[in-house]
Amino acid sequence: MTSSTPAARVLVVDDEKLIRWSVAERLQRDGYEVLSAESGEQALEMLAATPPDLMLLDVRLPGIDGVQTLQRALSLHPDLAVLMMSAHSTVDIAVDAMKHGAVDFLVKPFPFQALDAAVERAIATARTRRQIATLTNERRGQSALDAIVGASAMMEQVRTMICRLAASDTTTVLIEGESGSGKEVVARAIHFRGARAERPFLQVNCAALPEHLLESELFGHERGAFTDAHTQKRGLFESADGGSVMLDEIGDLPPGGQAKLLRLLENKTFRRVGGVQELRADVRVIAATNVNLEERVAEGRFRADLFFRLNVVRIAVPALREHVEDVSTLAAYFIARFNQEMKRTVHGVSASAMEMLRAYHWPGNVRELRNVIERSFILHAGADEIRPEHLTPELRKAAPPKRPDKIVPNITEEGLVLDDVEKKLIAEAMERASGNQSKAARLLGVSRDTLRYRLKKHGMA
Ligand SMILES: Nc1ncnc2c1ncn2[C@@H]1O[C@H](COP(=O)(O)OP(=O)(O)OP(=O)(O)O)[C@@H](O)[C@H]1O
Ligand SMILES: [Mg+2]
Repeated sequence: MTSSTPAARVLVVDDEKLIRWSVAERLQRDGYEVLSAESGEQALEMLAATPPDLMLLDVRLPGIDGVQTLQRALSLHPDLAVLMMSAHSTVDIAVDAMKHGAVDFLVKPFPFQALDAAVERAIATARTRRQIATLTNERRGQSALDAIVGASAMMEQVRTMICRLAASDTTTVLIEGESGSGKEVVARAIHFRGARAERPFLQVNCAALPEHLLESELFGHERGAFTDAHTQKRGLFESADGGSVMLDEIGDLPPGGQAKLLRLLENKTFRRVGGVQELRADVRVIAATNVNLEERVAEGRFRADLFFRLNVVRIAVPALREHVEDVSTLAAYFIARFNQEMKRTVHGVSASAMEMLRAYHWPGNVRELRNVIERSFILHAGADEIRPEHLTPELRKAAPPKRPDKIVPNITEEGLVLDDVEKKLIAEAMERASGNQSKAARLLGVSRDTLRYRLKKHGMA
């Protein structure tokens, strides 16, 4: 072992003092840091406090036996390397232990060389397991973030918040945003980037269920808690233990549910509906809302204490109209997705259709954009490009009218007075730009100074 790498830590678990002592002695001499325990219970306690790289575990132990200790240890630290130690009489148990995740086994009494070799191999295996786990998690975390399309400053800010949250996996989060703006996409990224990624991500829409069903959905119920409760049922918080629960439309959570949720957040405890037993659940709560929760608090419809408890970190997902610069990227993303799903080869959006997409106010946000593109795929199966005629009437109305078509007048028999035409055009541009001179100048294709000069000339300024 080189001095630059920290000493690997080994936990030796055996009820025989002599074995603990001799193995520890040898491994310390080899440069390992060694801890020892005389029972499975003690080993699990030590494991929780200072996880080692390797556990040398006797098959036969007083109290919980070696295999049970192995199983519990691996449920705490899935990539811990465990090397079983066994007498001749218990070799079949040691072999069985490998099916439960032990790396290898040694038959007692073993020569020290065999110990050295087995320990080295087991530690190398553990290192590889950990590297694979980290890589898999990083990749999964990255892809959760990649699922959020859009490079605008607003979306970058959302991404930054998500990355910061990955480090603190118990923090509750409040996600605000209009319907279809991407709250769920954000919630998933928070979960799958964080340390809870391996555990469940469950969600419920608080507005979708009547009060008593919602409470039993969230917290579970005991048999006989109400008329239809024929069996006991685990709630969402119980099922998601160790993971995250997204509570959509949290503003619609009824008062009873609000009180229970507050207790869960403060003490990590809850009771099933109709139950007396206090149960524990370790979940990250990600609440989402498309109404202003502060207003609900002011109206007395939402508990202020719960609001403060939820509002630890707040992420505002912008409405699509606030980040129109992402419309073309999002459109390209959905086109690629539908091309794949529907085996098509649509290559993009025509310039005039894109102008419409960018001008529209998108009340249904990203979901509506996705639907518009999906609809054009379905209704115009032969098209290889999305053009204005493939869009909905509302979208077509949204496009800024093309100047030349509408306002250039024809020269009639009587002729026209150029000055009058100019005056009318300027008036129309000013009206469309709601009095904003820069915008009006842009509409007319002149500089702001030119526009000012002409406004003055016509006595319009
Ligand atoms: N930034 C984004 N990148 C890619 N897809 C997105 C993005 N934002 C939203 N979507 C897609 O738009 C649709 C709606 O998003 P999502 O369900 O997250 O919205 P929401 O805010 O939870 O809506 P609601 O308030 O109705 O629950 C989904 O299909 C989602 O995949
Ligand atoms: Mg949603």
